[in-house]
Amino acid sequence: MKKISVAIDGPAGAGKSSVAKLAAKRVGYLYIDTGAMYRAITWQMLRKKTDIQDEGAVRRLLDTTDVVLETGNADRVFVNAADVTDAIREPEVTGQVSAVAALAAVRQKLVQLQQQMAAAGGVILDGRDIGTVVLPQAELKVFLTASIASRARRRWLEMKERGRKTTTLADMERDIAVRDRMDSEREISPLREAEDAVHVDNSDMTLEETADVICRLIAEREV
Ligand code: CDP
Ligand code: CDP
Repeated sequence: MKKISVAIDGPAGAGKSSVAKLAAKRVGYLYIDTGAMYRAITWQMLRKKTDIQDEGAVRRLLDTTDVVLETGNADRVFVNAADVTDAIREPEVTGQVSAVAALAAVRQKLVQLQQQMAAAGGVILDGRDIGTVVLPQAELKVFLTASIASRARRRWLEMKERGRKTTTLADMERDIAVRDRMDSEREISPLREAEDAVHVDNSDMTLEETADVICRLIAEREV
């Protein structure tokens, strides 16, 4: 049986990371959360107060910032050995990440790192440009999406469960729409469906049902 490379792309709140994580566990693949890497760089830029318009400052920051994903049971994210797993999910980072992810130098560094991490195969990567740029040769590409109402509700419930009551459902929908637009309209590697991707709308599917679909698609290609 051949272990393949899987690319899952789609907009915010579509279920990419939870579905990818579950499917990876079931098929024994390595899960790589590329969004966490863009969030990690954004966290570091906010901490260092880097001006994102200043190319030199951005490059210096990238040269001195190591992003490490520790995969396994707990999936932790580190920036220069500091555990930033929870910090990168804070609204401050979410509000800035699409602007940081639009920078050429940032994408260059992270795409290279992602390709190195995925080189051995038996991997599931999720993000925005995996099927189009990072792994254009992936044996399975999935474009995972859901209606904006479902995506906003999912994210809002998630925040509520984490004890955050600051955002209304309407605010969440607006924030996601802004991020969708920035991610789809940026010049470099915008979010778009690869021509050879399998389109999966999971608005009315549970997490388990969606993971079942992905696992079936993987099994069909592993022979
Ligand atoms: O989980 P959520 O959809 O909120 O976002 P994420 O996957 O953590 O990604 C955060 C942001 O990173 C996205 O809104 C994109 O701006 C950027 N990103 C990207 O540009 N390319 C990727 N491969 C992954 C994420
Ligand atoms: O990574 P992405 O932003 O695409 O989405 P996510 O963070 O994996 O999923 C957002 C939320 O939706 C999580 O709380 C998932 O458990 C939930 N979800 C769901 O309720 N039903 C699905 N079919 C997929 C995800």
